[in-house]
Amino acid sequence: MSLVTINEAAKWATDHLEKEISPTNISYLVQYGKVKKHGENGSTLVDLNDLKKYYRSWRGKREVNWKKKLGDDLNWALSFDHLREKDTTKHVHRLHPYKGKFIPQLVQYFVDDHTDDFKKDVYFKQGDVILDPFSGSGTTLVQSGEMGIHSIGIDVSHFNCMITDVKLHKYNFDALRQEIDRVKQALADYENDNNVIAFESELMQRLYEFNNKYFPSPEFKYKVQQKEINEGAYAEGKEKEFLKTYNALVKKYGVELKQAKADNFLDQWYCRNVRREIDFVFDLIKEIKDVRNKKALAVILSRTIRSCRATTHSDLATLKEPQLTTYYCWKHKKICKPLYSIKYWFDRYANDTLARLQEFDRLRTPAHFTVLPTDSRTTDIFRETKKRNKALHELLEKQKIRGIFTSPPYVGQIDYHEQHAYAYDLFGFDRKDDLEIGPLYKGQGQEARRSYVEGIADVLNNCKKYLQDDYDVFLVANDKYNLYPEIAEKSGMQIVNQFKRPVLNRTERDRNPYSEIIFHFKQI
Ligand SMILES: C[S@@+](CC[C@H](N)C(=O)[O-])C[C@H]1O[C@@H](n2cnc3c(N)ncnc32)[C@H](O)[C@@H]1O
Repeated sequence: MSLVTINEAAKWATDHLEKEISPTNISYLVQYGKVKKHGENGSTLVDLNDLKKYYRSWRGKREVNWKKKLGDDLNWALSFDHLREKDTTKHVHRLHPYKGKFIPQLVQYFVDDHTDDFKKDVYFKQGDVILDPFSGSGTTLVQSGEMGIHSIGIDVSHFNCMITDVKLHKYNFDALRQEIDRVKQALADYENDNNVIAFESELMQRLYEFNNKYFPSPEFKYKVQQKEINEGAYAEGKEKEFLKTYNALVKKYGVELKQAKADNFLDQWYCRNVRREIDFVFDLIKEIKDVRNKKALAVILSRTIRSCRATTHSDLATLKEPQLTTYYCWKHKKICKPLYSIKYWFDRYANDTLARLQEFDRLRTPAHFTVLPTDSRTTDIFRETKKRNKALHELLEKQKIRGIFTSPPYVGQIDYHEQHAYAYDLFGFDRKDDLEIGPLYKGQGQEARRSYVEGIADVLNNCKKYLQDDYDVFLVANDKYNLYPEIAEKSGMQIVNQFKRPVLNRTERDRNPYSEIIFHFKQI
């Protein structure tokens, strides 16, 4: 064994790898069990042999490679590579899909009271008020709620505000459970003597037999891998063959697949019975008196209908064509079917939501929160807060907002209203797509970038009025066009620090080293 201190280890690693490795880096490896901790009485020691082993491993090599490509100032502690999916989607963070979320641990890193080589100060403390002017699905608010920090979120998308509200509401869980059970039971009764259910059950049996015969798993997948089979041609033939069985069953049970109209998203993207069930459940939800329970059930229904769109499994993220028949599924390598009923997903998400809300309830503090469905460029934050949360407003009269932690939209990447088109159709909320800053539909051209800079600067200038003088503003940005220096200038702020964070494995296919920056702005 060759034991050294953290500082010695950092120095050794820097020489050994010819890359800047900081003591924080080494502490991080120790903290997350990647190298063993030795030593007692507060003096941590590590074994150089362990360290060599780590840097020879896949993870270690990745860290070094990424630094080579993205620069030595990459803060590896912000990669959160020790976390499992279970941690990043803990409790209410997985209440509803939302494209463009950041992970809760990122908020925690900046908002909690720890310091390290990179984060040298504590910026927020219990009892402060934090603002997220692009609150999205509410990650900043939820984490602040865990840490005893009061929070205000703003998002121009009404549906995003509803997701946030549902995550943060305090519930009477007995009453909520009763409402959920009532809707589940009514849906079960509604389906009971429905020909679609008999149709689906026979279809499943036939599919099972057909797939076992022609797409046995894992043998079929193996043959595809080995290129012993021409997947495209084989699948096309079998898909056609099964369609005959499918059409015969549709006829036998008199199932109507298409809806009569195709005017909006809900008409187009659901088969007829799914649409009927959606309307049935929504009518039950409308009857619920308690607004919190009503909203929670609405979010469960929305999550359900997102999973029940009539599309193939591989196109769930990017819808192409409505899929109303059985089809060869490239993802599962067998014949799959669209959904004809929402019951399975509704029941599953209802149970899951209840469990997640209860888990958060055990961790939360009594911190206040509110979320404003308005445009952050122009909204009067104190007045809007007063309308929604009196206690929080009273607090604001005594102490202004301490600072901001947010991830603004990036220029030309996501249409935030459009990603939840089904929910806007169902709930009839007003869409304010034209007030979104930097939407995908405006692209990334010169004009789009110019109006993006204006937009973000307008938000900061507006929010500044409600901040304490010595505020700290953190902006998580993918600034590939280098727009943030100009944004700082136009907002009358200065960039005092930039934390460079590696973003690991955004998707399976996308393994290119990629980083984002957390800009720290302060008053000039
Ligand atoms: C990157 S997302 C924030 C995601 C959030 N950090 C989370 O974890 O869920 C940016 C958000 O800014 C919102 N937004 C865009 N323009 C806005 C505006 N003018 N005022 C308020 N919110 C806006 C979008 O609706 C979107 O939800």
